[in-house]
Amino acid sequence: MHDILKDKKKLTVAIIIIIIIFLIFFIINKIMVKKLDNQIVPKPVSCEEGEGKFILTKNTSIYVKGNTEEETEEIYKIAEFLKGKLKPSTGFDFNIIKSDKVLEGNIYLTTIGGEKDQGNEGYQISTTSKNVNLIAYKAEGIARGVQSLRQLFPAEIEKNYLVTNIEWTLPVSVIKDKPEYSYRGLMIDVARHFISLEDIKRQIDLAAEYKINKLHLHLTDDQGWRLEIKKWPELTTIGGSTQVGGGEGGYYTQEEFKGLVKYAAERYVEIIPEIEMPGHTNAALASYDFLNEDGKSKEVYTGIDVGFSTFKCHDEKTYEFIDDVIKEVSDISPSKYIHIGGDEPKNALEDDYYYFVGRVNKIVEKYGKTAIGWDPCDKSSDISKDFVLQNWSNKNIVAKDKGMKMIVSVAKKCYLDMKYDTSTPYGLIWAGYIPVDKAYKWDPTDYAPKDLIWGIEAPLWTETITNSKFMDYMIYPRLLGHAEIGWTTKEKRNWNEYKYRLKVQYERMKNKGINYYN
Ligand code: ACM
Repeated sequence: MHDILKDKKKLTVAIIIIIIIFLIFFIINKIMVKKLDNQIVPKPVSCEEGEGKFILTKNTSIYVKGNTEEETEEIYKIAEFLKGKLKPSTGFDFNIIKSDKVLEGNIYLTTIGGEKDQGNEGYQISTTSKNVNLIAYKAEGIARGVQSLRQLFPAEIEKNYLVTNIEWTLPVSVIKDKPEYSYRGLMIDVARHFISLEDIKRQIDLAAEYKINKLHLHLTDDQGWRLEIKKWPELTTIGGSTQVGGGEGGYYTQEEFKGLVKYAAERYVEIIPEIEMPGHTNAALASYDFLNEDGKSKEVYTGIDVGFSTFKCHDEKTYEFIDDVIKEVSDISPSKYIHIGGDEPKNALEDDYYYFVGRVNKIVEKYGKTAIGWDPCDKSSDISKDFVLQNWSNKNIVAKDKGMKMIVSVAKKCYLDMKYDTSTPYGLIWAGYIPVDKAYKWDPTDYAPKDLIWGIEAPLWTETITNSKFMDYMIYPRLLGHAEIGWTTKEKRNWNEYKYRLKVQYERMKNKGINYYN
């Protein structure tokens, strides 16, 4: 009897302890999720929260004013973008007014009073119960600030249908912000599987909310050539006619590509085109016989092996062809950069490969652009520090010696096509599993000296990614972590605290219809 009573007492104590632990976690969670600087990904430089709130109503207007008329026009377009994002859920048809005489109850987007040390992308949002002032040094900073502003409203703001019975409030606060690195990229491989323009535009919209500012399009590979080249039409009619698994493939016309560049630019995202060579070129080799060593066109390829194809490295006809391609790409792509691939040159002799990337770099320079290439491009003695290295296999010793600018994309941390864990239904594992915490717990300086780092990029290769839902699943939520690594200083980042911010974003991602991995 005595023993039974003792056991009962122990059980009661254990239950009480479990309840207390649960309550502590519950309260910490509530506090963390409510904290203002946990509302925004990537985490801003500083957030000061005051008392009270600003309430958005049907009478709210968006005022815009730049230092010049041209700048006012640019900010006007950003205001239209903001209106487009707020209108579906609020139902409010905001007026946009070009004036700095801002009346109470309104939002003001301006570069007047912006400070040089905010840089191109920095901004400050000052919210009182009367007004919201978003001030930046450049219009681009206003565009980034507008993305933070969206995240300060209740998560329902992200729904694309009318939401009633909700107060659209912003907390009284001052948020100051600017990025750590100026290159924060997402790469989409549209060669292994053709991705529609509509799906790419959707990914641009989603990524821009997290201040991703570059979209690198991997436009050519063994399985497909996806960009029209007018002088060499069979690149797309033959080379673009299929994809992994033998589906029908596809390609973008030059007009479509220009439209995509414009769409991205309106969201302050720069498109960087990649024409991969000398390896990963079967689609071109299948399109034109003269590119082949034996003078015979290859069969189109629909598998996923790598390292079997190469351009001829000592044939002037090959370089004339590449010159035509680079010229046309330069004409339709406003970016200062063209990516020339250069990875996995397994089927070219080492010296031939070094000679090849040096020659192609010269062609890129001839058209006024700067080349970017995957490692080991840096090892060519014909490549100087003016070339940008995209470091994927963590081999950059020569680039460091030469003082080359680098984009850090180390596969074991950054590759979005790696599975999260054993239960991930698609993706690959050659660089290991990349769960959400592993994708977050790293810093670019783990892989390159700070002064050489231009930024980071997270690539999505599409061997197993056949549709928009799969893309969402592999990209989200890991891209939020990469966006934060690119934007927020190392000192301000911490996984234990980021977890709460990610939690806040889950509801928003759901409201936007993202098929994220939970
Ligand atoms: C790469 O993953 N081969 C750049």
